Amino acid sequence: MRIVLVGPPGAGKGTQAAYLAKNLAIPHISTGDLFRANISQGTELGLRAKGYMDAGQLVPDEVTIGMARDRMNQPDAENGFLLDGFPRNVAQAEALDEALQADGVKLDAVLDLEVPEDEVVKRIAGRRICRNDSSHVFHVTYSRPKQDGVCDVCGGELYQRDDDSEDTVRKRLEVYHTQTEPIIDYYKAQGLVVTISALGKVAEVTGRAMDALERSS
Ligand code: AP5
Ligand code: ZN
Repeated sequence: MRIVLVGPPGAGKGTQAAYLAKNLAIPHISTGDLFRANISQGTELGLRAKGYMDAGQLVPDEVTIGMARDRMNQPDAENGFLLDGFPRNVAQAEALDEALQADGVKLDAVLDLEVPEDEVVKRIAGRRICRNDSSHVFHVTYSRPKQDGVCDVCGGELYQRDDDSEDTVRKRLEVYHTQTEPIIDYYKAQGLVVTISALGKVAEVTGRAMDALERSS
């Protein structure tokens, strides 16, 4: 399956993507994670992306689209993928359509995670991520690690993302409404959008997402 996951910052895209990708046996491709990996490795791409990310703005399309395409061209993504955080504006959605068309394949579904803004703010404020692996995501209240500041999975140090400060979150939400939400209408016109509520326990949301994807295929 080829799936796009969309939803506001903090909706739980990364959390859900980890389970969905495993259930569906497809790679989880997160442009945010790819940028953060480049930043921690000190690459030129990472240096370019960091200023935009810290300001809560989108990294320019010419950087993002090339990086996403390179990742989608890896052998493990040949038969499907779960895109998280890409596309993030209509220009990126059009570029993705062009790339898929050139490969003679299509998207199967766009899964839209709906969460009220006050919940999103709470989820982001308490989020802690593992330095060793960004798919190890915790929350100081909702999914507490056994030991404060330590990853349950690998023992790595948990940290708070630089762009999770209150001001930057406000900017990211604004960017989501103005630049990313329009892709939902873009994909509605293609009949691809399935919307689910992302409220409730993580496993409940995964169940809802799996049911919705099954119904849509
Ligand atoms: P990115 O990394 O994509 O961030 P985002 O879209 O803002 O999403 P988040 O990672 O903040 O949230 P999430 O929905 O994954 O939530 P999570 O699962 O962690 O992008 C960051 C930046 O990179 C962008 O601002 C931009 O600068 C740049 N960028 C990335 N892609 C780009 C692109 N395509 N074009 C241009 N620029 C790009 O969950 C959040 C918290 O909630 C966690 O603590 C989790 O434990 C908790 N939680 C999850 N589910 C539940 C639940 N059901 N109940 C209770 N708590 C829950
Ligand atoms: Zn870890």
